[in-house]
Amino acid sequence: MTTKVFISRDAGAIAVGADQVAGAIAAEALHGDRDIEIVRTGSRGLYWLEPLVEVAIGGNRIAYGPVTAKDVKGLFAAGFLEGKAHKTLLGPTDSIAYLKRQTRLTFARCGVVDPLSLADYRAQGGGRGLARALSLGADKIIAEVTQSGLRGRGGAGFPTGVKWRTTADASAKEKFIVCNADEGDSGTFADRMLMEGDPFQLIEGMTIAALAVGAEKGIIYCRSEYPHAIETMRKAIEIARTAGLLGSRIADSRHSFDIALRAGAGSYVCGEETAMLESIEGKRGQVRAKPPLPAHEGLFAQPSVVNNVLSLAAATTILADGAEAYRALGYGRSRGTMPIQLAGNVKYPGLFEAPFGLSLGELVDDIGGGTASGRAVRAVQAGGPLGAYFPRALFDTPYDYEAFTARDGLIGHGGLVVFDDTVDMARQAAFAMEFCALESCGKCTPCRIGSVRGVEVIRRIVEGKDRAANEALLRDLCETLKFGSLCALGGFTPYPVLSALNHFPEDFGLARPLAEV
Ligand SMILES: Cc1cc2nc3c(=O)[nH]c(=O)nc-3n(C[C@H](O)[C@H](O)[C@H](O)COP(=O)(O)O)c2cc1C
Ligand code: SF4
Repeated sequence: MTTKVFISRDAGAIAVGADQVAGAIAAEALHGDRDIEIVRTGSRGLYWLEPLVEVAIGGNRIAYGPVTAKDVKGLFAAGFLEGKAHKTLLGPTDSIAYLKRQTRLTFARCGVVDPLSLADYRAQGGGRGLARALSLGADKIIAEVTQSGLRGRGGAGFPTGVKWRTTADASAKEKFIVCNADEGDSGTFADRMLMEGDPFQLIEGMTIAALAVGAEKGIIYCRSEYPHAIETMRKAIEIARTAGLLGSRIADSRHSFDIALRAGAGSYVCGEETAMLESIEGKRGQVRAKPPLPAHEGLFAQPSVVNNVLSLAAATTILADGAEAYRALGYGRSRGTMPIQLAGNVKYPGLFEAPFGLSLGELVDDIGGGTASGRAVRAVQAGGPLGAYFPRALFDTPYDYEAFTARDGLIGHGGLVVFDDTVDMARQAAFAMEFCALESCGKCTPCRIGSVRGVEVIRRIVEGKDRAANEALLRDLCETLKFGSLCALGGFTPYPVLSALNHFPEDFGLARPLAEV
């Protein structure tokens, strides 16, 4: 009998030696009398346990991790193929608390299936969303997505159903589905994990969107820093095409839809939807003024749906299980689940998919286990480089779009970057301005010039030069950036800067307001 051994081929696992572990297991198996089949999966998203090795035993998977190539002889000697004890034994994968506490909808198959096996995909529920979408037709698909309450997972949280309706209503010869896989936010990796671990789900989600709006072409814009995701997606597209799931008359229907993949060139602002469209068109990645909205005039001036990887992937679950099941999860106006990504100085970095509503403190202290350094958590930056720094005093904030906005923060793409008490928040504020200066597309003055001035003003404050006047100047500059910038790169840079200044004034050499002392 052949024993299946599962090892991730996700970039995060490969980076810490998964390929060497897989090689060592294959080599060691040659000396034994047991037949093994090594299945390279995506990651479960428990990154502190990678390389994670799982063995299929009696319908269960028994996990060992983190495993090094040097551990492999010992694992065989200990009898890991029978699930026996070893210093790296974690027990049944499904009972690992970090996984058990999650509600995995979008990431249900990730780490479980061979990413390029359509048979695995279907055996684990893949394809049900598309089948139902084909039977419903465009209007009912859009109604389902609207009723589910799904909001864009790329950052802005815009209702996906409204976006699809707008594109569907636009009349044009050609329409596009553009998948934003630029994933530039610091501490985020969910798009990459999904593309590497369950690429058919993205293809299915894009196809559902295409049926909804009447598009025949889709483009995935993936950052070039994701070579593994690009390779997996390209292979998955080819497999889907061969299986008749892409191309003309998909899945034996009267609809045609095909997908191409474009790699970005390493610019953060090319994640902004209109700059991305420029980039796909072969131009310099500069932001377009809106209106017109991409839903009216997007790629090559045609009506286009621009959605994040996770929004499109969520559509498969919504269509498969119905809007109500998705809507039943969540908090306030934030419905469904969010794949939250814990990163930075955190003990248990990884992907935690859960319904909205957990508090920030639960996520950082309980699920994340506090800092990796063992020191006190001082700040958490939520929502990428344009997101606010939350101090411990705000850890009661529920993970919800509106609750974060009420505290001058944002959820963005679901990233949480943890910092311990050695962080210099004035340095972080200066970094936010530096980042903006570096990544600015240069189209508007507040962002292009203001960010450079911002670095200088923060430096003067820290150096103690006329602190009160320079603090007032910095606040004034932030107002200008907030309200005078063309896009959210300039418009949101004030959030990390002002949150650092307001919550950690002592790092700038400024006194705390009397009420807080
Ligand atoms: C500077 C900047 C960078 C952005 N980067 C990304 C990104 O990497 N991925 C993404 O999906 N959205 C990004 N966005 C948001 C997109 O403009 C757009 O709102 C999103 O792709 C829409 O998809 P959604 O409705 O599914 O969220 C960025 C926005 C700005 C202003
Ligand atoms: S805010 Fe910055 S990135 Fe956005 S359009 Fe203006 S210059 Fe370009």
